[in-house]
Amino acid sequence: MRDEPPEVPAPGDEVQALECGPRSRFAWCITGSGHFLDESMVLAARLPQVDLFLSAAGEEVLEIYKLHIEELKSRFRIFRDKTASGVPVGMLYEGIYHTVVLAPATSNTVAKCAFGISDSLPTNMFAQAGKQGIPGIVFACDTEPVVLTKSPHDWVTLRPRRIELDNVERLRTIDFCRVVASPAELEAALDVRLKELALAWNTSSS
Ligand SMILES: Cc1cc2nc3c(=O)[nH]c(=O)nc-3n(C[C@H](O)[C@H](O)[C@H](O)COP(=O)(O)O)c2cc1C
Repeated sequence: MRDEPPEVPAPGDEVQALECGPRSRFAWCITGSGHFLDESMVLAARLPQVDLFLSAAGEEVLEIYKLHIEELKSRFRIFRDKTASGVPVGMLYEGIYHTVVLAPATSNTVAKCAFGISDSLPTNMFAQAGKQGIPGIVFACDTEPVVLTKSPHDWVTLRPRRIELDNVERLRTIDFCRVVASPAELEAALDVRLKELALAWNTSSS
């Protein structure tokens, strides 16, 4: 049984740091993408020691896709985007996290990360991790000229514009960032990272 953490640590709150070993956790950021949301969450649940960091849109989209935050709390510690300055990002400086994952990443978040903008919890996590040399893995969903995506009620065909595809390519050039473009690529990147850390996938789904 895990202690419930505060959803947003107050500035200067060091409770989280005291509860966690150094470089012991994944920081997994969820943005407002319905595309590959289910697949991303399945992979997050298979990893050891994961905290979720939600963008405001991510919080809404999780609920729309019936992934209820109250239920996710039984498995993950959850930090929501309730502060202008990205207060939970302070935990990166406490040395808790060894890896920052953005999955799934919206076109919006990909664009911001590619251009060094950090004005949401996921984009702040990504930027601040990079500045500390903490590896980032970004699952960019708009990576093909034609994308078949699941809307809340149906399947929809999208055609990402040149700017979305260009932003993904630009993101690939950012330091300490690995971009993946499919659930299989995300799983492979996480597998590599686990091996680097001498960690393993969870064997139980509970
Ligand atoms: C149901 C729903 C599904 C969405 N799916 C996507 C998506 O797959 N990809 C995307 O880029 N944006 C998607 N959006 C739009 C983003 O949520 C929106 O651009 C938001 O501002 C992104 O904010 P964030 O990047 O800070 O999470 C979706 C919105 C809704 C309401």
